[in-house]
Amino acid sequence: MTRPLIARPRRLRTSPAMRALVRETRVNPDGLVQPLFVVPGSGVVQPIGSMPGVSRYSVDAVVRECGELDAAGVRAVLLFGIPDSAEKDAYATVNHDPNGIVQRAARAIKEALPHILVIADLCNCEYTDHGHCGILDPSGDVDNDLTLEVLAKTALTYARSGVDIVAPSDMMDGRVAAIRRALDDDGFTKTAIMSYAAKYASAFYGPFREAADSTPSFGDRRSYQMDPANVREALKEVRLDIEEGADIVMVKPAMAYLDVVRAVRETTDLPVAVYHVSGEYAMIKAAAERGWIDEERAVDETLTAIARAGADIIITYFAKDYLRRVRV
Ligand code: PBG
Repeated sequence: MTRPLIARPRRLRTSPAMRALVRETRVNPDGLVQPLFVVPGSGVVQPIGSMPGVSRYSVDAVVRECGELDAAGVRAVLLFGIPDSAEKDAYATVNHDPNGIVQRAARAIKEALPHILVIADLCNCEYTDHGHCGILDPSGDVDNDLTLEVLAKTALTYARSGVDIVAPSDMMDGRVAAIRRALDDDGFTKTAIMSYAAKYASAFYGPFREAADSTPSFGDRRSYQMDPANVREALKEVRLDIEEGADIVMVKPAMAYLDVVRAVRETTDLPVAVYHVSGEYAMIKAAAERGWIDEERAVDETLTAIARAGADIIITYFAKDYLRRVRV
Protein backbone atom coordinates (compact mmCIF):
# COMPACT_ATOMS: atom_id res chain seq x y z
CA MET A 1 0.00 0.00 0.00
CA THR A 2 1.46 3.32 -1.01
CA ARG A 3 0.70 6.20 1.24
CA PRO A 4 -0.60 9.32 -0.50
CA LEU A 5 2.21 11.79 -0.96
CA ILE A 6 1.52 15.11 0.76
CA ALA A 7 3.46 18.20 -0.22
CA ARG A 8 4.87 19.51 3.05
CA PRO A 9 6.05 23.12 2.81
CA ARG A 10 5.97 23.20 6.63
CA ARG A 11 9.21 21.21 6.59
CA LEU A 12 11.04 24.44 5.81
CA ARG A 13 9.45 26.28 8.73
CA THR A 14 10.49 23.99 11.53
CA SER A 15 13.07 26.16 13.31
CA PRO A 16 14.49 29.69 13.28
CA ALA A 17 17.60 28.40 11.49
CA MET A 18 15.52 26.62 8.86
CA ARG A 19 13.39 29.68 8.26
CA ALA A 20 16.47 31.88 8.03
CA LEU A 21 18.01 29.43 5.56
CA VAL A 22 15.16 29.83 3.09
CA ARG A 23 14.27 33.49 3.76
CA GLU A 24 13.84 35.32 0.45
CA THR A 25 13.92 38.94 1.52
CA ARG A 26 16.11 40.85 3.94
CA VAL A 27 15.98 44.51 4.81
CA ASN A 28 19.29 46.09 3.84
CA PRO A 29 20.47 47.99 6.95
CA ASP A 30 22.68 50.20 4.76
CA GLY A 31 19.65 51.28 2.75
CA LEU A 32 17.70 52.82 5.62
CA VAL A 33 17.38 56.60 5.78
CA GLN A 34 16.34 58.57 8.87
CA PRO A 35 14.36 61.78 8.24
CA LEU A 36 15.26 64.71 10.53
CA PHE A 37 13.45 68.01 11.15
CA VAL A 38 15.69 71.01 11.79
CA VAL A 39 14.55 74.25 13.44
CA PRO A 40 16.29 77.55 14.35
CA GLY A 41 17.79 78.17 17.77
CA SER A 42 20.14 76.13 19.90
CA GLY A 43 19.66 73.34 22.37
CA VAL A 44 16.19 72.69 20.95
CA VAL A 45 14.73 69.18 21.06
CA GLN A 46 11.01 69.51 20.52
CA PRO A 47 8.96 66.29 20.49
CA ILE A 48 6.27 66.03 17.81
CA GLY A 49 2.94 65.06 19.37
CA SER A 50 1.61 62.98 16.50
CA MET A 51 4.94 61.20 15.98
CA PRO A 52 6.00 59.74 19.35
CA GLY A 53 9.78 59.31 19.43
CA VAL A 54 10.40 61.92 16.69
CA SER A 55 11.57 65.46 17.51
CA ARG A 56 12.52 68.69 15.84
CA TYR A 57 16.14 69.63 16.49
CA SER A 58 18.16 72.83 16.32
CA VAL A 59 21.43 72.59 14.36
CA ASP A 60 23.59 71.78 17.41
CA ALA A 61 21.09 69.18 18.62
CA VAL A 62 20.77 67.61 15.18
CA VAL A 63 24.53 67.07 15.09
CA ARG A 64 24.28 65.29 18.45
CA GLU A 65 21.38 63.21 17.15
CA CYS A 66 23.45 62.30 14.06
CA GLY A 67 26.15 61.05 16.43
CA GLU A 68 23.58 58.72 17.98
CA LEU A 69 22.30 57.66 14.59
CA ASP A 70 25.86 56.94 13.53
CA ALA A 71 26.36 54.77 16.62
CA ALA A 72 23.13 52.93 15.83
CA GLY A 73 24.42 52.23 12.32
CA VAL A 74 22.30 54.70 10.35
CA ARG A 75 24.31 55.82 7.32
CA ALA A 76 22.05 58.41 5.73
CA VAL A 77 19.76 61.19 6.91
CA LEU A 78 17.10 63.19 5.07
CA LEU A 79 16.91 66.82 6.22
CA PHE A 80 13.79 68.97 6.39
CA GLY A 81 14.21 72.63 7.34
CA ILE A 82 11.54 74.45 9.30
CA PRO A 83 12.27 78.18 9.40
CA ASP A 84 10.60 80.65 11.79
CA SER A 85 7.16 81.48 10.48
CA ALA A 86 8.16 85.18 10.47
CA GLU A 87 10.78 84.34 7.83
CA LYS A 88 8.35 82.78 5.38
CA ASP A 89 7.14 84.72 2.35
CA ALA A 90 5.27 84.08 -0.89
CA TYR A 91 8.53 83.28 -2.73
CA ALA A 92 10.20 80.88 -0.29
CA THR A 93 13.15 83.29 -0.20
CA VAL A 94 14.73 81.81 2.94
CA ASN A 95 14.91 78.42 1.22
CA HIS A 96 17.90 79.61 -0.83
CA ASP A 97 19.55 81.64 1.90
CA PRO A 98 23.15 80.33 2.05
CA ASN A 99 22.75 80.52 5.83
CA GLY A 100 19.34 78.91 5.87
CA ILE A 101 18.42 76.14 8.23
CA VAL A 102 19.16 73.18 5.93
CA GLN A 103 22.37 74.77 4.68
CA ARG A 104 23.67 75.29 8.23
CA ALA A 105 22.59 71.85 9.37
CA ALA A 106 24.27 70.17 6.38
CA ARG A 107 27.54 72.01 6.99
CA ALA A 108 27.51 71.18 10.69
CA ILE A 109 26.73 67.48 10.15
CA LYS A 110 29.33 67.12 7.41
CA GLU A 111 31.94 68.81 9.57
CA ALA A 112 31.27 66.60 12.60
CA LEU A 113 30.48 63.34 10.78
CA PRO A 114 31.75 63.52 7.20
CA HIS A 115 30.90 59.89 6.48
CA ILE A 116 27.17 60.37 7.14
CA LEU A 117 25.34 60.77 3.84
CA VAL A 118 23.32 63.96 3.88
CA ILE A 119 20.21 64.05 1.74
CA ALA A 120 18.20 67.27 1.65
CA ASP A 121 14.50 67.31 0.88
CA LEU A 122 14.01 70.08 -1.67
CA CYS A 123 10.59 71.71 -1.55
CA ASN A 124 9.03 75.08 -0.83
CA CYS A 125 6.07 74.19 1.36
CA GLU A 126 7.98 74.71 4.61
CA TYR A 127 9.22 78.10 3.36
CA THR A 128 6.17 79.75 1.76
CA ASP A 129 3.71 81.70 3.90
CA HIS A 130 0.81 80.04 2.02
CA GLY A 131 2.26 76.53 2.52
CA HIS A 132 2.10 75.38 -1.10
CA CYS A 133 5.06 73.60 -2.67
CA GLY A 134 5.53 76.25 -5.35
CA ILE A 135 5.31 79.95 -6.10
CA LEU A 136 1.76 81.09 -6.88
CA ASP A 137 0.63 82.93 -10.01
CA PRO A 138 -1.82 85.86 -9.65
CA SER A 139 -4.79 83.48 -9.84
CA GLY A 140 -3.50 81.43 -6.88
CA ASP A 141 -2.34 78.46 -8.95
CA VAL A 142 1.16 77.08 -8.48
CA ASP A 143 3.33 78.55 -11.26
CA ASN A 144 5.34 75.55 -12.43
CA ASP A 145 8.13 77.25 -14.35
CA LEU A 146 8.69 80.05 -11.88
CA THR A 147 8.98 77.41 -9.15
CA LEU A 148 11.70 75.61 -11.14
CA GLU A 149 13.94 78.68 -10.84
CA VAL A 150 13.57 78.72 -7.05
CA LEU A 151 14.21 74.97 -6.81
CA ALA A 152 17.35 75.19 -8.96
CA LYS A 153 18.67 78.12 -6.93
CA THR A 154 17.97 76.34 -3.65
CA ALA A 155 19.54 73.07 -4.87
CA LEU A 156 22.76 74.98 -5.56
CA THR A 157 22.91 76.38 -2.02
CA TYR A 158 22.35 72.85 -0.69
CA ALA A 159 25.16 71.44 -2.83
CA ARG A 160 27.47 74.26 -1.75
CA SER A 161 26.72 73.33 1.87
CA GLY A 162 27.94 69.77 1.35
CA VAL A 163 24.64 67.99 0.72
CA ASP A 164 25.35 64.69 -1.08
CA ILE A 165 21.90 64.11 -2.55
CA VAL A 166 19.14 66.62 -3.25
CA ALA A 167 15.65 65.17 -3.13
CA PRO A 168 13.00 67.29 -4.86
CA SER A 169 9.55 66.53 -3.40
CA ASP A 170 7.54 69.36 -4.97
CA MET A 171 6.18 67.42 -8.00
CA MET A 172 6.68 70.30 -10.46
CA ASP A 173 7.17 69.24 -14.08
CA GLY A 174 10.72 69.54 -15.36
CA ARG A 175 12.36 70.06 -11.96
CA VAL A 176 14.92 67.27 -12.26
CA ALA A 177 16.28 68.73 -15.52
CA ALA A 178 16.31 72.26 -14.08
CA ILE A 179 18.14 71.12 -10.94
CA ARG A 180 20.62 68.92 -12.84
CA ARG A 181 21.47 71.78 -15.19
CA ALA A 182 21.98 74.23 -12.34
CA LEU A 183 24.19 71.80 -10.42
CA ASP A 184 26.29 70.88 -13.47
CA ASP A 185 26.71 74.50 -14.56
CA ASP A 186 28.15 75.26 -11.14
CA GLY A 187 30.51 72.27 -11.13
CA PHE A 188 28.44 70.06 -8.82
CA THR A 189 28.44 67.13 -11.21
CA LYS A 190 28.82 64.74 -8.28
CA THR A 191 25.75 65.89 -6.36
CA ALA A 192 23.10 63.22 -6.91
CA ILE A 193 19.37 63.69 -7.39
CA MET A 194 16.84 61.44 -5.69
CA SER A 195 13.50 62.47 -7.14
CA TYR A 196 10.20 61.93 -5.41
CA ALA A 197 9.05 60.65 -8.80
CA ALA A 198 5.71 59.08 -7.86
CA LYS A 199 4.48 61.14 -4.95
CA TYR A 200 0.78 60.77 -4.27
CA ALA A 201 -1.64 63.29 -2.77
CA SER A 202 -1.98 61.29 0.44
CA ALA A 203 -3.81 61.52 3.74
CA PHE A 204 -0.81 59.79 5.31
CA TYR A 205 1.26 63.02 5.35
CA GLY A 206 -0.90 64.42 8.16
CA PRO A 207 1.59 64.21 11.04
CA PHE A 208 4.42 65.53 8.83
CA ARG A 209 2.48 68.69 8.15
CA GLU A 210 2.18 69.24 11.89
CA ALA A 211 5.90 68.51 12.30
CA ALA A 212 6.96 70.75 9.42
CA ASP A 213 4.30 73.40 9.87
CA SER A 214 3.51 73.11 6.15
CA THR A 215 -0.24 72.65 5.82
CA PRO A 216 -1.44 74.75 2.86
CA SER A 217 -3.44 77.75 4.08
CA PHE A 218 -5.98 77.19 1.29
CA GLY A 219 -6.76 74.41 -1.18
CA ASP A 220 -4.82 71.17 -1.35
CA ARG A 221 -1.92 69.62 -3.29
CA ARG A 222 -3.93 67.63 -5.81
CA SER A 223 -2.95 69.80 -8.76
CA TYR A 224 0.67 68.71 -8.38
CA GLN A 225 0.76 65.49 -6.31
CA MET A 226 -0.55 62.33 -7.95
CA ASP A 227 -4.01 60.80 -7.80
CA PRO A 228 -3.83 57.66 -5.59
CA ALA A 229 -5.76 55.72 -8.25
CA ASN A 230 -3.02 55.89 -10.88
CA VAL A 231 -0.15 53.52 -11.56
CA ARG A 232 0.52 54.02 -15.29
CA GLU A 233 0.95 57.69 -14.53
CA ALA A 234 3.54 56.79 -11.91
CA LEU A 235 5.56 55.01 -14.56
CA LYS A 236 5.34 58.08 -16.76
CA GLU A 237 6.59 60.31 -13.93
CA VAL A 238 9.44 57.86 -13.29
CA ARG A 239 10.38 57.75 -16.98
CA LEU A 240 10.41 61.53 -17.27
CA ASP A 241 12.54 61.94 -14.15
CA ILE A 242 15.03 59.37 -15.44
CA GLU A 243 15.21 61.11 -18.82
CA GLU A 244 15.83 64.37 -16.99
CA GLY A 245 18.73 62.89 -15.04
CA ALA A 246 17.44 61.44 -11.76
CA ASP A 247 19.91 59.05 -10.09
CA ILE A 248 17.39 57.47 -7.71
CA VAL A 249 13.60 57.42 -8.08
CA MET A 250 11.17 57.35 -5.19
CA VAL A 251 7.65 56.12 -4.53
CA LYS A 252 5.74 57.71 -1.65
CA PRO A 253 3.89 56.69 0.58
CA ALA A 254 4.78 53.01 1.03
CA MET A 255 2.17 50.58 2.34
CA ALA A 256 -0.80 51.60 0.23
CA TYR A 257 1.44 51.75 -2.87
CA LEU A 258 3.45 48.53 -2.87
CA ASP A 259 2.02 47.62 -6.28
CA VAL A 260 3.45 50.89 -7.58
CA VAL A 261 6.82 50.06 -6.00
CA ARG A 262 6.80 46.68 -7.77
CA ALA A 263 5.84 48.26 -11.11
CA VAL A 264 8.56 50.90 -10.81
CA ARG A 265 11.13 48.25 -9.79
CA GLU A 266 10.33 46.33 -12.95
CA THR A 267 10.69 49.31 -15.29
CA THR A 268 14.01 50.74 -14.17
CA ASP A 269 17.55 49.70 -13.32
CA LEU A 270 17.98 52.71 -11.05
CA PRO A 271 17.84 52.31 -7.29
CA VAL A 272 14.25 52.64 -6.07
CA ALA A 273 13.58 54.48 -2.82
CA VAL A 274 10.34 54.17 -0.88
CA TYR A 275 9.17 56.63 1.77
CA HIS A 276 7.38 55.06 4.72
CA VAL A 277 5.69 58.32 5.70
CA SER A 278 4.66 60.07 8.90
CA GLY A 279 1.07 58.77 8.98
CA GLU A 280 2.26 55.21 8.49
CA TYR A 281 4.66 55.69 11.41
CA ALA A 282 1.96 57.28 13.56
CA MET A 283 -0.50 54.45 12.95
CA ILE A 284 1.93 51.80 14.18
CA LYS A 285 2.92 53.92 17.19
CA ALA A 286 -0.67 54.68 18.14
CA ALA A 287 -1.84 51.07 17.91
CA ALA A 288 1.24 49.83 19.79
CA GLU A 289 0.72 52.39 22.58
CA ARG A 290 -2.74 50.96 23.11
CA GLY A 291 -1.33 47.44 23.16
CA TRP A 292 -3.27 46.58 20.01
CA ILE A 293 -0.25 45.48 18.00
CA ASP A 294 3.32 44.50 18.77
CA GLU A 295 5.43 47.43 17.56
CA GLU A 296 8.65 45.54 16.82
CA ARG A 297 6.93 42.81 14.87
CA ALA A 298 4.80 45.32 12.98
CA VAL A 299 7.91 47.32 12.03
CA ASP A 300 9.86 44.25 10.94
CA GLU A 301 6.94 43.04 8.85
CA THR A 302 6.38 46.47 7.31
CA LEU A 303 10.02 47.06 6.34
CA THR A 304 10.31 43.52 4.97
CA ALA A 305 7.17 44.03 2.87
CA ILE A 306 8.53 47.27 1.44
CA ALA A 307 11.81 45.53 0.56
CA ARG A 308 9.93 42.56 -0.91
CA ALA A 309 7.97 44.92 -3.18
CA GLY A 310 11.28 46.07 -4.63
CA ALA A 311 12.64 48.93 -2.54
CA ASP A 312 16.42 49.31 -2.40
CA ILE A 313 16.25 52.31 -0.10
CA ILE A 314 13.67 52.77 2.66
CA ILE A 315 13.15 56.18 4.23
CA THR A 316 11.56 55.62 7.63
CA TYR A 317 11.19 57.31 11.01
CA PHE A 318 11.86 53.84 12.46
CA ALA A 319 15.42 53.65 11.01
CA LYS A 320 17.24 54.41 14.26
CA ASP A 321 15.14 52.13 16.47
CA TYR A 322 15.21 49.33 13.94
CA LEU A 323 18.96 49.45 13.41
CA ARG A 324 19.63 49.67 17.14
CA ARG A 325 17.79 46.41 17.41
CA VAL A 326 19.19 44.51 14.45
CA ARG A 327 22.77 45.77 13.99
CA VAL A 328 25.25 43.55 15.75
C1 PBG B 1 7.27 68.23 1.26
C2 PBG B 1 7.16 66.86 1.80
C3 PBG B 1 6.09 66.23 2.46
C4 PBG B 1 6.57 64.99 2.89
C5 PBG B 1 7.88 64.89 2.45
N1 PBG B 1 8.22 66.04 1.77
C6 PBG B 1 4.74 66.72 2.79
C7 PBG B 1 3.75 66.97 1.74
O1 PBG B 1 3.98 66.82 0.55
O2 PBG B 1 2.66 67.39 2.13
C8 PBG B 1 5.82 63.98 3.69
C9 PBG B 1 6.64 63.11 4.57
C10 PBG B 1 5.89 62.36 5.59
O3 PBG B 1 4.64 62.41 5.68
O4 PBG B 1 6.55 61.67 6.37
N2 PBG B 1 6.52 68.54 0.17
